[in-house]
Amino acid sequence: MRAFVIKKLSHPSKISLSIDVPEPQPGQRQVIVDVYSAGLNFFDILQAQGKYQNKPALPFTLGSEFAGRIARNSPIPKGCPYKAGDRVFGASQGAFADKVAVDWERLITLPDNVPFDQGAGLFITWPTSYEALVGRAELKPGEWVLVTAAAGGVGIAAVQIAKALGAKVIGAAGSEAKLDVAKRIGGADYGINYSKPAWYKEVLEITEGKGVDVIYDPVGLINDSLKCIAWKGRALVVGFAAGTIEKVPMNLVLLKNVSLVGVHWGAYSVKESGRIPVVWKELLDLFASNRVKPVTFTEVYSLDEVTNGLAALERRETWGKAVVRVNQENPAERSKL
Ligand SMILES: NC(=O)c1ccc[n+]([C@@H]2O[C@H](COP(=O)([O-])OP(=O)(O)OC[C@H]3O[C@@H](n4cnc5c(N)ncnc54)[C@H](OP(=O)(O)O)[C@@H]3O)[C@@H](O)[C@H]2O)c1
Repeated sequence: MRAFVIKKLSHPSKISLSIDVPEPQPGQRQVIVDVYSAGLNFFDILQAQGKYQNKPALPFTLGSEFAGRIARNSPIPKGCPYKAGDRVFGASQGAFADKVAVDWERLITLPDNVPFDQGAGLFITWPTSYEALVGRAELKPGEWVLVTAAAGGVGIAAVQIAKALGAKVIGAAGSEAKLDVAKRIGGADYGINYSKPAWYKEVLEITEGKGVDVIYDPVGLINDSLKCIAWKGRALVVGFAAGTIEKVPMNLVLLKNVSLVGVHWGAYSVKESGRIPVVWKELLDLFASNRVKPVTFTEVYSLDEVTNGLAALERRETWGKAVVRVNQENPAERSKL
């Protein structure tokens, strides 16, 4: 099978597709999934260079998020509710390949109304934004929310979830084109370009001096955002896409009765696994209601273009979820399942 194999740690731009790789060997509780689409993540770039917390032994296949079907030759472990051909999405090391092995308990059924390209970017992105806003910030209808990187993967999900929950949303991004995406596709009420100095003053103007109740920040803009947070505001620390881990002046936290709130969705499987099905049930209900919709970047990459997709991500050119279409659905093959 084809796979984007890392044989030696290096920047992904120096790696090309391997075409004759043995199929993955499933473990005891694992199934094999035929990958149709895979999500591109910034951490893939780090992992290829050995700079990410999760460091698989060499050689390993890059890629994590995927959507596809349970393979025809897959073992079905005891208790596994899936059968060959079922549509699923999930995350497992090695998603940039024709097939991936994955613990069946970590799979979720892909709703019929969600295409594989959209399904490929759900597993990490959407529960992160949902749990941040609902579980951690306890967002209420009518509250003001500021989302940074509002056109990015987790950002545009946060914009849509906040709107669906009845909040008023200010999307902030680094270019006018991305602000347009955050408003037109994400549904943000206002857009602010944070490449301008003192951009937070615009937030205060929009909120008539009150400031925002919730900050959702995957970039590393907490310090600037605290200048436009409301009394008793909650600032969600989601990520550091800009590459710097900020030091926060604690007097700002004290003066406005602010809560700094972290969210690490990946840790829920170890720390709070009971919360995961609750979040997914509520999210899948939201998808079914069509009040939110996964957003994918217009350019879809093929498996031999993984490098191009990761380069576009690194250059901040993408919006929504950038996706690799590993295989096109073949109706003739499907009927044999
Ligand atoms: N806490 C969690 O559980 C969790 C879960 C998933 C992801 N995350 C983190 O959230 C962050 C965003 O993830 P994502 O999937 O939404 O990524 P993404 O789709 O690549 O979006 C990131 C956005 O950040 C903005 N940005 C600002 N400065 C940047 C810089 N120097 N380099 C790159 N981007 C920059 C860019 O938007 P503009 O061009 O508009 O500035 C970019 O589009 C990442 O740090 C990720 O690790 C955390």
